[in-house]
Amino acid sequence: MVVDGGSPEGGPVVILLGPPGVGKGTQGVRLSRDLGWAHVSTGDLLRQARRDRTELGKKAQAFMDGGELVPDGLIIELVREHLAGLDGGRGVVFDGFPRTVPQAEALDRALPDVGRGVDAVVLLEADAETLFKRISGRRSSPNGRVYNIYFDPPAREGVCDETGEPLIHREDDKPDTVRTRLEVYEELTAPLVGYYARTPGLIRRVDGEAGMDEVQNAIRSEIGVDA
Ligand code: AP5
Repeated sequence: MVVDGGSPEGGPVVILLGPPGVGKGTQGVRLSRDLGWAHVSTGDLLRQARRDRTELGKKAQAFMDGGELVPDGLIIELVREHLAGLDGGRGVVFDGFPRTVPQAEALDRALPDVGRGVDAVVLLEADAETLFKRISGRRSSPNGRVYNIYFDPPAREGVCDETGEPLIHREDDKPDTVRTRLEVYEELTAPLVGYYARTPGLIRRVDGEAGMDEVQNAIRSEIGVDA
């Protein structure tokens, strides 16, 4: 069990917190795939909404391309829809949500309605130089699988190993936009560390500079699931 008390009526709820490029998506996809948990990435959901040209996608576009956060109201509504559809027995890993204190407060209000609570917040940490290097080499599959041309290339250049779809170089991965995203992280998301630290033992720090397998094993060890 991850920790006592967070989710009395369902699988554990784990939040992956950390700056752009630290590995939240990479680790979230692996955790969910191996453990059968739901992976809720607000970034992936927003990119899908943009590809589908939904109202949400249109509203989110300018914020995302500029490296700014999408307004809290839109995000909270999006996540609420996902929570309502969750199968009670499965664990959930949140990646890129919550991103602001109002989002965290909304999650804390919504989870008890589905018999859950936050069980663990995994804080992934890496320095800015590492983040820039990782982001510059990132290529993403529409299905959420993330590659890196330096550290984790696909078998065939430019193509997802799992789906055969062309890999995407994200619009918001340009250096100027990445700088803005890092500033936004410090200003609006880093305060979540203080928010969650009010609950003793909730935050687990993991060195995001380590190799992908080591990071995965460290996360599992911190949240108490088998490596
Ligand atoms: P989002 O998609 O959530 O982006 P992010 O938080 O900025 O995080 P990234 O996806 O850039 O990085 P990551 O930590 O997932 O790293 P990854 O695993 O890909 O959000 C995008 C935008 O959507 C936001 O800017 C905002 O506009 C909007 N948005 C989303 N959620 C929102 C919310 N809740 N509220 C408001 N707005 C929201 O890894 C990066 C690269 O490094 C990859 O190439 C990977 O292969 C490589 N890598 C990973 N780990 C390692 C390792 N250990 N060693 C070597 N390489 C590694």
